[in-house]
Amino acid sequence: MNAAGSIVGTRAIGGCDPEAAICARGIVRDFEAGQSTIRVLHGIDCDIRPGEMTYIVGESGSGKTTLISIMCGILYPTAGEVRVFGTDIYKLSDSDLVRFRLHNIGFIFQQYNLIPSIDAAANAAVPLIAQGVPREEARERAKVLLERLNIGDQADKLPRQLSGGQQQRVAIARALVHAPRLVVCDEPTAALDASSGRRVMDLLREVAIAPDRACIIVTHDNRIFDLADRIIALEDGRITHDGTAMPDDH
Ligand SMILES: Nc1ncnc2c1ncn2[C@@H]1O[C@H](COP(=O)(O)OP(=O)(O)OP(=O)(O)O)[C@@H](O)[C@H]1O
Ligand SMILES: [Mg+2]
Repeated sequence: MNAAGSIVGTRAIGGCDPEAAICARGIVRDFEAGQSTIRVLHGIDCDIRPGEMTYIVGESGSGKTTLISIMCGILYPTAGEVRVFGTDIYKLSDSDLVRFRLHNIGFIFQQYNLIPSIDAAANAAVPLIAQGVPREEARERAKVLLERLNIGDQADKLPRQLSGGQQQRVAIARALVHAPRLVVCDEPTAALDASSGRRVMDLLREVAIAPDRACIIVTHDNRIFDLADRIIALEDGRITHDGTAMPDDH
């Protein structure tokens, strides 16, 4: 325990709780920067519990996006292991990892990553199309979520015809449309006004929080801090706080 009453990285590698939604052990990530290598994550141990909304907070550059990208199978760690609902994801073949993500994980990117040439409903329907759901059915299911997010009337527009906040909500619909067990969101409310942000959080809680599901949210948005079940703080690639309240310095 540290002074803030937090438990920090105490478990040995391999000591995964079988009930954990995510068990990450010894996560190291290096990036090449010219001639040198920088270490962005320094051996992180972290469990994400099912049925909870876990926030990850920390200053810009502390490693939040890098960590959640590794925890949801879109960025290989330099060292360490990640188990998602009992599957060692980095021991899967590339094609099995893609399939695992497609069926189990929804990811909201900080930069939205919408496909520019297709409209909002088609963008939101991408995971269903990839799973083989017929196009019209996929589109209708995507539209239900766009309605819930108050942008049903934008369904036929291309991303460049949408505001930043509208694009963000299309990205949120795309992350939820296939009802994944794990939803990982990088700043999901950053471009939204207070009431749109609340709407997103209500939807996330409704679809992403259940005994066999989990949701991780990276955020700086102090308007939604009260909605977290658990808050993990990162500083320079290390966990410095893990508890039910914000760390004292936020
Ligand atoms: N592909 C990359 N190549 C080199 N360095 C990288 C790369 N991706 C991230 N970094 C570096 O890793 C560190 C952590 O980046 P990361 O994007 O995880 O931070 P963050 O906490 O998400 O920041 P922000 O709040 O600004 O989104 C930063 O110093 C960044 O410059
Ligand atoms: Mg980031």
